[in-house]
Amino acid sequence: MKGVILAGGSGTRLYPITYGINKHFLPIYNKPMIYYPLSVLMLMKIREVIFVANREDIPLFKKFFGDGSDLGMKISYTVQEEPRGLAHALLCAEEFAKGDSICLILGDNIFFGHGLPEVLISAKEEVEKNGGAFVFGYYVNDPERYGIIEFDSSGRVISIEEKPKNPKSNFAVVGLYIYDSTVFEKAKKVEPSWRGELEITSVNNQYLKEGKLKVKLLGRGFAWFDAGTYDSFLEAGEFVATIEKKTGLMIGCIEEISFKNKWIDRKKLEEIAKKLEKTDYGKYLRKILDESE
Ligand code: TTP
Repeated sequence: MKGVILAGGSGTRLYPITYGINKHFLPIYNKPMIYYPLSVLMLMKIREVIFVANREDIPLFKKFFGDGSDLGMKISYTVQEEPRGLAHALLCAEEFAKGDSICLILGDNIFFGHGLPEVLISAKEEVEKNGGAFVFGYYVNDPERYGIIEFDSSGRVISIEEKPKNPKSNFAVVGLYIYDSTVFEKAKKVEPSWRGELEITSVNNQYLKEGKLKVKLLGRGFAWFDAGTYDSFLEAGEFVATIEKKTGLMIGCIEEISFKNKWIDRKKLEEIAKKLEKTDYGKYLRKILDESE
């Protein structure tokens, strides 16, 4: 399975901040927003990843991640010429997928929870083995903002509705989707919605119609943020700061995950820690090194 990170879009909900700054590099506490979704793919042991971004921002992504070798990964980039929606952005990665299954993750989504990697890896294995798609539901208080799951009386999923005026539940589909290789033919069939976007919900509904959509609800042990508004951005930062200070463990530390996945060796991690030695981030990497001796 390969990873696709959607990091285009226009970031209008964060104006005026995002007039001239790409939102995915805004800090969520002590690291750029984009580290969090990348770290989730890494925790799923997905080593080959593409960023879909706006043309003018590609150099910025390259500056951070290069070809991925500093993380022991293979990272590439592709342009989405216009922010025409998530299904459109996904189509930009068709050539990269080359018939493989993919995990699609939104560049402004932050996930945290005990046992999250295990849940995601088992969903990944399910799709690799049996095909279809896997998505996750999460309870939200503001369902009008999301793709909302409708259940029948026996709890079966009957539809997903994008940004409903009259939401049928409070369960939103979170921004991490696992798809078999038929996702691209499905995305090509999507027509623009009332807001003019190619919606990922239309892709998910096609899987649902074929009886090939698995939905797992993430319970109260998990936290999910879509950091695209002032409040959710701030909340996500406060959440990360609180957890990191309490536990002494970092969320979304990509170098740590890479080292623990054995994708980079001690020498490489030492090199990175040295570059960061004046910061708490660098001290944390040093601690990881000391503990692994
Ligand atoms: P959104 O938050 O839905 O859209 P946006 O980033 O353009 O922000 P706003 O609504 O404030 O204008 O996007 C979710 C993620 O998907 C985000 O990380 C950007 C990315 N994205 C794309 O890569 N391509 C797109 O066409 C869109 C709409 C979003």
